[in-house]
Amino acid sequence: MSQTYENTYETSLAASDKIKIRIKQNPKKYTCLTGDRPTGHLHIGHYFGSISQRVKLQNLGVKTYLLIADLQVITDRNNTSNIQNYVYSNILDYLAAGIDPNKTTIFTQSAIPELNELFIPFLSLVSDSELRRNPTVKAELDASNKGLSGLLLTYPIHQAADILFCKANIVPVGKDQLPHIEICRTIARRFNERYKTIFPQPYGLLSNSPYITGLDGRKMSKSFNNSIQLSFTSEQTNEIIKKSKSDSEKNITYDPENRPEIAALLSTAALTTGQNAKTIAKDIGMSGAGALKKFTSQAVNDYFAEFRQKRFEISQDKSYISDIITQGNKKANEIANQTLNEVKSAMNLKY
Ligand code: TRP
Repeated sequence: MSQTYENTYETSLAASDKIKIRIKQNPKKYTCLTGDRPTGHLHIGHYFGSISQRVKLQNLGVKTYLLIADLQVITDRNNTSNIQNYVYSNILDYLAAGIDPNKTTIFTQSAIPELNELFIPFLSLVSDSELRRNPTVKAELDASNKGLSGLLLTYPIHQAADILFCKANIVPVGKDQLPHIEICRTIARRFNERYKTIFPQPYGLLSNSPYITGLDGRKMSKSFNNSIQLSFTSEQTNEIIKKSKSDSEKNITYDPENRPEIAALLSTAALTTGQNAKTIAKDIGMSGAGALKKFTSQAVNDYFAEFRQKRFEISQDKSYISDIITQGNKKANEIANQTLNEVKSAMNLKY
């Protein structure tokens, strides 16, 4: 607890790298849970940052759960009118990327009432000050332009229920989610000490894939309109890239600090061609931003051609997605029920 946030990051990174080796050696020992909030369409940052890692873990034989955190959306938003759309769109992205519903349990948070039941005992295990100093809660509070709601303050605890209900021991996350994993580990440890050893203390798995910024050089975000969505056609991709800002210097160089927009194009092209950003910059050189944009559009469109085809095919059958959700929820419910039973027994609450 006396560690600084950066220290915690270094420690988590080292732990994460070690676990990755152990997962490869013995995938069956691991249960993985990841989640997304359905607040918009997913973009290529999600694809390279998290979805492809999930597919890899799934294919290694790790037991995997994929949570659609629909209830968590109201932590900082009042509007849920588009939520069903986003849930469908996100699941299409997962499937097109190679998530296999026979191997990965895809489920919606709001359909698992046991998560809320676990929330109550978990609430008792964390102090007010532990929650208030959580950097992610603080950051989300600042971004929300609202007061601190009870739900925002306690959302790391709700998230611990998401993770622990299936006894997940690995949670692939971005750096910003690490403080939540810390709270989750604390909750698991305190529960085990106070009642009975039921829960693992999960590790956060950090992605090794290079971070890509949005086309304007800022964080790629659903709200900045600076991202290439996975649901885009090649025309939409060409358009957003063509419209993106460049700068007045003709010669293309890779310089993220001084030329963030050009660097964003270059790193997108690098990820989708497998080439180095600096090499691409050199090759394009005096041909300028127009040529770079064409090159990047082509690279993205080639890379995602198969993905798009698959996404389109799956999208033709809406009942297929509903069935996946129904099946996933059923399975998640069964597991959650078992865990809740164990918790109640350990707490002497079985009648
Ligand atoms: N908070 C996560 C996000 O904003 C989503 C999420 C909800 C999650 N529950 C989780 C992530 C449990 C990992 C584990 O992306």
